[in-house]
Amino acid sequence: MLPVLNERMESATAHAKELLSKLSLTEKIGQLSQFGTSIYNNKREYFPEHYPEGKIGSYLTVSGAQITNQLQRDCQEKFPTHIPLLFADDVIHGYRTTMPTPLAQSCSWNPSAAERGAEVAAKEAYVAGLRWTFSPMVDIARDPRWGRIVEGYGEDPYLCSRFAEATVRGYQGKEIGEKYHILACMKHFIGYGACIGGRDYNEVDMSPQTLYDIYLPPFQAGIDAGAATVMSAFHSMNGVPCTGSRHLLTEVLRNECGFDGFVVSDAGAVPELIPHGYAEDWKDAAQKGFQAGVNMLMAGDFYNDYLPQLVAEGKLTEQEIDEALLPILVLKILLGLFESPYTDESEEAKFFFCEEHLSVSREIAKECVVLLENNGILPLQKNQKVALIGPFADEKDHVLGTWSCRKDPEKTVSILEGFRKAGVDVTYAKGCDICEGCDAKLSEAVEIARKSDVAVLVLGEGEDMSGEAKSRTDISLPQIQLKLLDAVLETGVPVVLLISAGRPIVVEDFREKVAALAYIWQLGTSTGDAVAEVMTGRCDVSGRLSVSVPKSVGQIPVYYNYPSTGRPALGKIWYETGYIDENAHSRYPFGYGLSYTEFEYSDLRLSANEMTADGSITINCKVKNVGKRAGKTVVQLYVRDLVGSRVRPIKELKGFEKIDLDAGESRTVTFILQARELAFHNEKMEKVVEPGRFRLWVSKDSREEGISGEFEVV
Ligand code: BGC
Repeated sequence: MLPVLNERMESATAHAKELLSKLSLTEKIGQLSQFGTSIYNNKREYFPEHYPEGKIGSYLTVSGAQITNQLQRDCQEKFPTHIPLLFADDVIHGYRTTMPTPLAQSCSWNPSAAERGAEVAAKEAYVAGLRWTFSPMVDIARDPRWGRIVEGYGEDPYLCSRFAEATVRGYQGKEIGEKYHILACMKHFIGYGACIGGRDYNEVDMSPQTLYDIYLPPFQAGIDAGAATVMSAFHSMNGVPCTGSRHLLTEVLRNECGFDGFVVSDAGAVPELIPHGYAEDWKDAAQKGFQAGVNMLMAGDFYNDYLPQLVAEGKLTEQEIDEALLPILVLKILLGLFESPYTDESEEAKFFFCEEHLSVSREIAKECVVLLENNGILPLQKNQKVALIGPFADEKDHVLGTWSCRKDPEKTVSILEGFRKAGVDVTYAKGCDICEGCDAKLSEAVEIARKSDVAVLVLGEGEDMSGEAKSRTDISLPQIQLKLLDAVLETGVPVVLLISAGRPIVVEDFREKVAALAYIWQLGTSTGDAVAEVMTGRCDVSGRLSVSVPKSVGQIPVYYNYPSTGRPALGKIWYETGYIDENAHSRYPFGYGLSYTEFEYSDLRLSANEMTADGSITINCKVKNVGKRAGKTVVQLYVRDLVGSRVRPIKELKGFEKIDLDAGESRTVTFILQARELAFHNEKMEKVVEPGRFRLWVSKDSREEGISGEFEVV
């Protein structure tokens, strides 16, 4: 349900209906059309010739207070019915102040931090004239070859759902129309992350149970949090392109999930029904997209060009057009665009990169670093001489990640700058570029490493190596960087390896050779400050993986919540579900990450050993920081349905809490597990909580045994 008071909703609906009665068919269809950068020639096109006829309702990728005001004014003057334009953009992880990528943010396991980040992004976008963002992307991703894994919140439906609702709230505020807030758009409906082979835009073939139990929950969580819009996806799902699927966009999204906002197509996804072989021509594509439930067409004239004819021919009715338009008008009204269509041009300077926003980006970034290996070298000691090496060590652009469209790399704090600000005794050599290098540069790096106590190498992927249409078959470090790493390792100086990337990188060849290994992902504007704070131990390292890290590409997809298998069997059959050259386990499991201190989990207590299908149990456990310094841990609750009418996952995350404890301090962490959270779709696609025994674990990651108990649903 849209987050608005009933009264406001009623009056907005009445106002929208009144407007509808005054609009011509052309003007109505115009409101369903969005323009901006042309997807075909990548040129900015404003189509001012559409204003007098009212053939434009929204712009994408047009932002900035001055230009949006100018276009709005121009349109208002020329468009007789004066319906304000709605400006949208891909504000994915920040507008000017760049936050860590969504994948990085999900490794914070701190949805409130992500909510704050979305709020800051919304504020900067708002003062730039935008009222709508194409974010969050809540596609579950189990395949790190897929370039867009960087845009989402990882592999798990529960974790992703918490980030979906948090970011929707962050963008939209408490109520639609709140100042400095904008509309959210959950994308891409649905199953986009399951593209076969990790190839972007590729088909998806999926059981309805997997769709409903794994891929749908984050969308449902965002809808329940009030997401105003949803974007249809490019790919086909079980043979039908999502953008042409009435089943998905209307029956599932609206009728079953209760979505009451509007759907925008992905850019070009409606005309792409033609190359899919699902529509005959542009007119057929426009009809199929519209009838499926695409309210607004992104980037193009296909609705303007063909819907009027389709109405004239009786293939569509004007009433259907009205129904598609109503939620768009309602949202324009709720946003307050009719009273204040313009943006105060003095506010951009006040808010872009302001201290408060930088501090939010710093706080989030610190929490996203995931420490995978540490022989005790981290945190760095004050008196150590540090050689900082690598193509990402003094980098300000690539570390911002994909979709940082209005970035300003000049404002980025590089890791070198961060180390210097933090007083680290540091020398620097780049060593090589991202994908190429020469011996002279390499030797320079080896030279400074030799003269240091520790070498910190920052290696990884450029921002253009993950993201849309950026899938890779090889997810290791580029050859030249491996060469640099080897050369520095040969000096015998301990190496701390930090990986800056948009996806998990395979680390088999070197993880045992380095003294410490961490993923820093792409942390945004405050990269250097955050990395320096974490590396010097001024704060704990507290990120945990939101995706499993494979040992090799051949293992993909590898994820923690896979359904049980029949083998290894009970008897004397030793065949396993792995490979003859590798077992089935990821290198680092979902939920994994080290701290600088140690925690002990004990005293598991369940309020009851059984609950009814509509009941709940309370789970308590004691967590103690048994190390010598303050630190953070993510307490994770997993369950397993031991016997089901369908094969159940070996573990499923059902709760988590990130806590901060002083050395020696302990705290009781409480989870309330509702039986309804144990529901799944059975063979007949009924959503059921089946009676029977369940095992639960409270643990530090999805593989660790932790402490465990059992309960029964009766
Ligand atoms: C992407 C969307 C994005 C849109 C607008 C498309 O290519 O798939 O995620 O929001 O472009 O830029």
